[in-house]
Amino acid sequence: MLPFLVTLSFIVLGISQGALGQGSQSIPNTFPHAWPGQPNGTFSPEWQSYFEVTQKLPNITAPLSRSFAGNIPVNRAGHPNDTLFFWAFEKQGSNGTLTAPADANNTDPWIIWLQGGPGSSGMIALTTENGPIHVLANGTWVFNNFSWNHLADVIWVDQPVGTDARNRCFPRTGTGFSTADSTGYVPDEDQTGEDFLGFLSNIVKVFPSLATRPLFLTGESYAGTYIPYITKHLFQAQNPPVKLRKIAIGDGSLGSQATVEHLPVVNVIETYPALIGYDEDVFNYFREQEHLCGFDLNLTYPQNGHFPTLNLVRPTAHSALSQSLLDPMETRARSKSFQQLVSGKFAAAHAKRSLNTRAEFFERREESRQQWKRDLSGRANGTIDPFYGCFLLDELEDYAVNFTFPWSNGGFDVYDIPDATNPEPFLNASTFFNDNRTRAALHAPTSKDWIRNFNYPFGNVQDRSKGNQYGDPSVEPIAFLSDLATNASAANVSIVFYSGNDDSLVQHRGTEVIIQNMTFGGVQGFSRKPSTPWFDDSGNFAGIVHQERGLTYVLIAGAGHLIPEWKPAQALVFLREFVLGNNQTGTVSGTVVVGGENSTLANDYLPGGNEIFYGSSATQGTSTIPGATQAAWNSFIATATATHPPLANGNSASRQAAGSVLRGVIVALVVGCFA
Ligand SMILES: *[C@@H]1O[C@H](CO)[C@@H](O)[C@H](O)[C@H]1NC(C)=O
Ligand SMILES: *[C@@H]1O[C@H](CO)[C@@H](O)[C@H](O)[C@H]1NC(C)=O
Ligand SMILES: *[C@@H]1O[C@H](CO)[C@@H](O)[C@H](O)[C@H]1NC(C)=O
Ligand SMILES: *[C@@H]1O[C@H](CO)[C@@H](O)[C@H](O)[C@H]1NC(C)=O
Ligand SMILES: *[C@@H]1O[C@H](CO)[C@@H](O)[C@H](O)[C@H]1NC(C)=O
Ligand SMILES: *[C@@H]1O[C@H](CO)[C@@H](O)[C@H](O)[C@H]1NC(C)=O
Ligand SMILES: *[C@@H]1O[C@H](CO)[C@@H](O)[C@H](O)[C@H]1NC(C)=O
Ligand SMILES: *[C@@H]1O[C@H](CO)[C@@H](O)[C@H](O)[C@H]1NC(C)=O
Ligand SMILES: *[C@@H]1O[C@H](CO)[C@@H](O)[C@H](O)[C@H]1NC(C)=O
Ligand SMILES: *[C@@H]1O[C@H](CO)[C@@H](O)[C@H](O)[C@H]1NC(C)=O
Ligand SMILES: *[C@@H]1O[C@H](CO)[C@@H](O)[C@H](O)[C@H]1NC(C)=O
Ligand SMILES: *[C@@H]1O[C@H](CO)[C@@H](O)[C@H](O)[C@H]1NC(C)=O
Repeated sequence: MLPFLVTLSFIVLGISQGALGQGSQSIPNTFPHAWPGQPNGTFSPEWQSYFEVTQKLPNITAPLSRSFAGNIPVNRAGHPNDTLFFWAFEKQGSNGTLTAPADANNTDPWIIWLQGGPGSSGMIALTTENGPIHVLANGTWVFNNFSWNHLADVIWVDQPVGTDARNRCFPRTGTGFSTADSTGYVPDEDQTGEDFLGFLSNIVKVFPSLATRPLFLTGESYAGTYIPYITKHLFQAQNPPVKLRKIAIGDGSLGSQATVEHLPVVNVIETYPALIGYDEDVFNYFREQEHLCGFDLNLTYPQNGHFPTLNLVRPTAHSALSQSLLDPMETRARSKSFQQLVSGKFAAAHAKRSLNTRAEFFERREESRQQWKRDLSGRANGTIDPFYGCFLLDELEDYAVNFTFPWSNGGFDVYDIPDATNPEPFLNASTFFNDNRTRAALHAPTSKDWIRNFNYPFGNVQDRSKGNQYGDPSVEPIAFLSDLATNASAANVSIVFYSGNDDSLVQHRGTEVIIQNMTFGGVQGFSRKPSTPWFDDSGNFAGIVHQERGLTYVLIAGAGHLIPEWKPAQALVFLREFVLGNNQTGTVSGTVVVGGENSTLANDYLPGGNEIFYGSSATQGTSTIPGATQAAWNSFIATATATHPPLANGNSASRQAAGSVLRGVIVALVVGCFA
């Protein structure tokens, strides 16, 4: 037996059950703080000197460009305390770009960045991704040479309104510095869009040049839901407060959970076959499940017909995991930080084990894996696995954590497949934001603490039985993306979707499905398959780019979900060339594509590399896949993907037997709020 593992799974389940929302907790009332010098009356450029960050920020020694921060109301009737928090940085090296007077001839770009979640603070990106100051795992602060404000004025925003002290991913902390009274939370995404317009109409009164300068609205993950809704409301507005030029969405939740999370699972395996230990049977098993779930959509260029709405079949058999998937109140603790809570204990226990027992552990694990394999046909028999349903990403994560080194150390980061460190280095900005000196300098609220992420209460209550897995009742953006694209073309607004190739939570295949299923420039989907390389400033391959009829798609090699964290230099080139700039690489022009098409990039997946890094709180080693294994796999995959595998048959060993052998092994807690 493996007692430490048994203990662990109890801790895991204990936390998840303890944190299950019953909708009964009180929702906090928060409000902005009036710091000395706050002007009286309505917003005007007079507020610039109030918002300017002039006091010294603790632990920040680097000279920063001029910045402004504070809370600005969203103008919702009856909810004066509903505000969004912003921190705006002028373009590096400039002085006066944000405070420039109104001037319709000023065409300097400006950028807004929104985080995902739902409920994640924009300050996460500011302090760990594309912002000017970064916190390191040891608490040190450094200057980021690849901050997006090297190219334009950038405003990082905490939205939607509100906060919640009780949070699934970071228990007892709660989002960013935005505020809301206890009945002032947003009921849905349309209110989110309206609120954001209210915020914009106020901020352009403080910084009047922003009303007419080209706005680049950017964000990642669940911002893939927010941004289309905000854009929809901007297009509907009689007098839009800003001039939108482009929207850019990274690893965005543009479609259903089935489409963005579970459909791409075979593509995830193909990108990193190490996840299944290069096991051909396991690959065929997942392909069969993909087929049975209706996830094997055939993308054609040009696209032939619309895809059906995907049905996310739920597990039917009882197990701890299936129970959590079945529970409509269960949000599933999808957060790497949540995972850290338990995995830290796992790592400690693991470290204590002698080599001898560890070898025993690995032997035992291989035995279990063989059992699981023998059992494959018995599990499914041409039917959807009753234990996982079509939650195929969960099944893959569990497989990797159950059986495949180094993920079997307990670390599976859905945001970044090759990162198997456990616990991961934790980049914690909360000490900084909650320091009274920081609060005063940033004109932040004192009625609440800054929190990275909160469990977003749509409609003022936590009710996960409604709407999607986050309780968001709004229809997914795919339902109106074609209309949005039509309006975007008319308004000369371009759309950029980009993906980190190492992300498994919102994998790029899902984004490609969305693109082929939407109409833009009057035609459905791309007419040619994306296969044009783009390069960073050192001339190194950086990924794939494709552009047609106002829609740009960029794949970024070697980057996880939080793209600028993993590939900061490449993310800045991407911003310069394909968001702010109009670089034509990848553009279809008649029968040719600018920059050419490369047949080795025309597969459904871009191989993810052969190094998996692991360690505790820092990378202590990498696991490299032997060349012979890769060669054997490559020849297998070439034939395996030429035809669909036959349905599994035969073995009658029961799933229950495998279950008892494996009992006590950690249930891979599927990770991740949509950061
Ligand atoms: C705002 O008004 C109050 C009272 O009317 C006054 O004490 C305060 O100085 C005013 N603040 C500013 C910045 O003008
Ligand atoms: C910006 O310019 C003003 C004068 O216009 C000056 O007082 C201030 O120190 C400058 N700030 C920076 C960061 O250079
Ligand atoms: C904007 O440019 C036009 C044409 O160059 C010029 O006539 C006008 O005065 C400019 N407006 C401002 C506010 O500078
Ligand atoms: C913190 O980590 C960074 C990067 O690893 C290192 O350069 C720095 O010296 C460390 N600082 C302290 C105080 O340990
Ligand atoms: C807004 O916050 C203030 C405290 O600053 C409080 O007195 C007031 O009741 C709040 N308004 C609402 C509508 O909750
Ligand atoms: C995609 O094509 C394959 C091979 O023709 C077929 O088996 C499969 O059913 C198709 N998928 C869908 C969803 O139609
Ligand atoms: C594809 O588009 C159709 C029609 O707009 C929609 O009904 C369907 O849900 C979409 N399917 C996917 C997988 O996005
Ligand atoms: C992983 O292990 C758990 C715990 O034994 C088991 O319930 C689950 O079915 C396993 N999943 C996979 C995909 O191996
Ligand atoms: C400043 O840095 C020190 C040393 O790393 C740390 O102990 C302290 O908590 C930090 N303070 C803030 C406000 O970040
Ligand atoms: C920070 O300010 C609050 C009042 O806003 C006060 O209650 C608290 O003691 C202060 N904390 C420190 C460490 O000074
Ligand atoms: C477009 O971007 C590519 C990066 O792949 C770069 O090599 C090229 O120089 C850029 N072209 C122009 C015209 O800036
Ligand atoms: C699979 O088939 C075997 C024998 O054909 C049968 O004993 C077993 O119950 C089946 N399993 C499922 C899940 O249908």
